[in-house]
Amino acid sequence: MLRGWRGLGVIRSASPGTRFPQYTRGYAAGLPELTKDRYSHVKRGNFATLEQNHLKFFTDLLGENRVVSNPSDCQAYNVDWIRSVRGYSNCVLKPRTTQEVSEILAFCNRHRLAVCPQGGNTGLVGGSVPVFDEIIVNTGLMNKILSIDEISGVLVCEAGCVLETLDDRLAEKDLMMPLDLGAKGSCHIGGNISTNAGGLRLLRYGNLHGSVLGLEAVKADGEIMDLLSTLKKDNTGFHLKHLFIGSEGTLGLVTKIAIQCPPKPKATNVSFLGLQTFENVLETFQLARKELGEILSSFELIDALSLDIVTGHLGLKSPIQDFPFYVLVETQGSNATHDEDKMNRFLEIAMKTGTVEDGTVTNEDSKIKAIWALRESITEGLLRDGYVFKYDLSLPIKEFYGIVTEFRKRIGEDAVRICGYGHVGDGNIHLNISTKEFSQDILKRIEPFVYEHTSQLRGSVSAEHGIGFRKPKYVHYSKTEPAINLMKDIKRIMDPNGILNPYKVLPS
Ligand code: FAD
Ligand code: MLT
Ligand code: ZN
Repeated sequence: MLRGWRGLGVIRSASPGTRFPQYTRGYAAGLPELTKDRYSHVKRGNFATLEQNHLKFFTDLLGENRVVSNPSDCQAYNVDWIRSVRGYSNCVLKPRTTQEVSEILAFCNRHRLAVCPQGGNTGLVGGSVPVFDEIIVNTGLMNKILSIDEISGVLVCEAGCVLETLDDRLAEKDLMMPLDLGAKGSCHIGGNISTNAGGLRLLRYGNLHGSVLGLEAVKADGEIMDLLSTLKKDNTGFHLKHLFIGSEGTLGLVTKIAIQCPPKPKATNVSFLGLQTFENVLETFQLARKELGEILSSFELIDALSLDIVTGHLGLKSPIQDFPFYVLVETQGSNATHDEDKMNRFLEIAMKTGTVEDGTVTNEDSKIKAIWALRESITEGLLRDGYVFKYDLSLPIKEFYGIVTEFRKRIGEDAVRICGYGHVGDGNIHLNISTKEFSQDILKRIEPFVYEHTSQLRGSVSAEHGIGFRKPKYVHYSKTEPAINLMKDIKRIMDPNGILNPYKVLPS
């Protein structure tokens, strides 16, 4: 039987939740080209340019320590985590309170200064850094937990709280955050809400439109919108909080959040399984849904070339022999015996029918973490190939993996690697094409084809990462013209001068 543990080595680095260095990595050395040069068709908007009197206003408001204006100190805030885009802002502001955010935005709006809201800067679509010289408003110092209600499970906190810190604090009260992702050690809850981040357990706990009960946000003109309800039911007109969830800092800057948190599970089981074909993956998923039912909390795919990233570049050890496909199946529940019985039965059937050929399963914390590291570290390890063209697509589950095979045919040896991993349970695949360095030619061979293909299958061009800077011109593959026009109307009402995160999300 599978229960037990074989051959897993010591995790050398990149354990889940590791705080990512923002800027000083020992690989992919050198800065990316400035965005304004790489994407020279994008023109700077008619915004004001930073002047000494603007800086004086900001230092009077925040004090010198919370206004960064030295170009080399600003650098880390200008480059995104995957080093795909780079702005040249010489002004990073670090407010501590909603009132300060309000005064900053009101001033910027009056003076037509463009603003880029920034959380943990782990976003993957170039939305979190300026395109040109936008003022960066970073929420890192807005990091207070305001309350945790142990009866209702409602957490209220400021936008700059790091996701993992929140989860650790909730664990002390036998609660957990309803979302989890590989960037948890760096990303902020405000950034998660602004991107409507999905992550590793969406299949079980749903998305943030469901779990966020309320929020506070500051509009472009500085007006504070107090929508910080902690009520589960509140049908009083338009549900305005949803405008801020997933709008990537284009409609307002989120400052506080109330979120519904589930109880921390008493029992967790994780299995890591090897499979020969993608059809086997689908059969195993169907079986997992049937046999594990309400305790299934994650079902993640890793293909062979994705596993090779973490074993090759990061020195992690796979607990099983090599296969074309691997899946990570997790259960979370409240009764260890019941959950283990269910997991065992699921594994027995999967082995007997031959859909799964080998695997390992554990309920021990350290081993669970080691298995999760194989999945969560792929993003980091991939950067060691060079430049990564990342695609985050929702596709009908049967067509889920076909896009990876298609690109292997189209690009072949011209890429370092073409791999696929992702959230099978949510129909969300991450297609990644790595090359030694950025290449306009490869980009043209991938886009727009990747989006046309997705659209033909009625998928989504962004499942969970958002639109950011990299995808506005492809939104139309997933949204109709009237829908895009309504988005533009809403933007005009909420930010008439267009100062909030310009060049992002909305097509021009
Ligand atoms: P940032 O990157 O700083 O900003 C993201 C966007 O939100 C930007 O447009 C920014 O302007 C805006 N923004 C940030 N804070 C605010 C605010 N307070 N108010 C208004 N706008 C704001 N994403 C997933 O969905 N699922 C995953 O599984 C996942 N895994 C990841 C794993 C790794 C290793 C990495 C590096 C990234 C991963 N991501 C994932 C992407 C990223 O972590 C998420 O998008 C995350 O929610 C971004 O949070 P952040 O605080 O870093 O935001
Ligand atoms: C993931 O699921 O690992 C994240 O969304 C990040 C990525 O796509 O690399
Ligand atoms: Zn993902």
